[in-house]
Amino acid sequence: MERIETGVPARRETGAGYAGRIFKEIQGVIDDTGGQAGAVIRVLQQTQGLIGYLPGTVLMTISRDLKMPLSEIYGIISFYHFFTMVPKGRHVIQVCMGTCCYVKGGQRLLDILKKEPGLEPGGITPDSKFSLETVRCLGCCGLSPVMAIGDQVYRRVKPSEIKDILSSYE
Ligand code: FES
Repeated sequence: MERIETGVPARRETGAGYAGRIFKEIQGVIDDTGGQAGAVIRVLQQTQGLIGYLPGTVLMTISRDLKMPLSEIYGIISFYHFFTMVPKGRHVIQVCMGTCCYVKGGQRLLDILKKEPGLEPGGITPDSKFSLETVRCLGCCGLSPVMAIGDQVYRRVKPSEIKDILSSYE
């Protein structure tokens, strides 16, 4: 297994004070639009940037303040693949299921992650430590199978290495 860094941040704050501060920031983002429905994508992007996903309660606030039906907002979220209503773990595991990685054992990596820590694609561990996604290609097909956790890309991963990889994250 080879490991490289990509520089993507992985940690998020939590707690009641944090939630209040974030809600204020989201309200500020909405207020900056002057209530224009045309700004909804920008609002959704900034909201997801703050929280990591788009919770239903926040979408109701956006719907109310931009005077846009919730159904339209859901339509936008499902159209753009980068929007998600599912919370992410502190560390997001991405397993490549592109053709090269699939042929070289990507599914076996998913099978191991399903056993321990019990993750299905789209899932999150009960302690919010890890969430799992599948991706089409991580750009190093010649070194498959490939997976990434936050800012680290792991190449030529053997199923037997996954436990050690996960244990290196707090
Ligand atoms: S197919 Fe997995 S890195 Fe390209």
